[in-house]
Amino acid sequence: MFDRIASEYDRFNSWASFGLHKGWRDIMVRQIPAGASGLDIATGTGDVAFLARSQGHEVVGLDFSESMIHRARLKDIRSAITWMTGSAEALPFPERRFDCITSAFALRNMRGCLEAVFRETFRVLTSGGLALHLDFGRPRFPVMRWGHRLHTRVSVPLIGRLVYRGRWPQGYLENTIRDFFEPSQVEDRLEAAGFINVSHAPLLGGVVQLYRGTKAC
Ligand SMILES: C[S@@+](CC[C@H](N)C(=O)[O-])C[C@H]1O[C@@H](n2cnc3c(N)ncnc32)[C@H](O)[C@@H]1O
Repeated sequence: MFDRIASEYDRFNSWASFGLHKGWRDIMVRQIPAGASGLDIATGTGDVAFLARSQGHEVVGLDFSESMIHRARLKDIRSAITWMTGSAEALPFPERRFDCITSAFALRNMRGCLEAVFRETFRVLTSGGLALHLDFGRPRFPVMRWGHRLHTRVSVPLIGRLVYRGRWPQGYLENTIRDFFEPSQVEDRLEAAGFINVSHAPLLGGVVQLYRGTKAC
């Protein structure tokens, strides 16, 4: 599916989030400790990786979709970012390789292997390393919940069909948001993988959640 939607992915993101996705990514990237070497898992077309690189971090962007990685690479072929294809649940790196792990809008897609993904990211983090994960959630307050449902059920499919025409994966966004864990269940899984100081912060009333966890020194 991701190979099929890679070519229009950035345009779809901007339209469907009314441009807000940039600010959400920025909030996460600003939390990466200075001088950290980072791994952005499920990097897609690389927006988080580019943002982290622009702030001076060494960055590896990894995704299992060759088309997504191809798009990321083409955005700036001179960039110092290392692009790799690979699965987040079987990371091709030695233990304690990175100071920070990031992911954006990816956890929902890894619902079935989230435990393995958290175990792997924990393994490749240095002691004291930080994991940051940004993803859509379900707003808590009724009015926001209603508006959000309307957006994901009506406007998003409309935008999807406009941007992708026949290639739009009908129901993808709505279903993955609906079926994803509650924030506390994500936190439980981070803790089960070994992370400490685990937390989540709702952005825009819970439309997006930013998860944090630290690997103990
Ligand atoms: C919704 S996109 C998010 C892309 C990017 N992080 C962003 O912020 O726009 C989800 C990405 O996760 C990747 N992905 C899903 N499951 C994966 C896995 N198990 N390992 C690696 N990449 C995965 C997909 O190929 C896709 O590029």
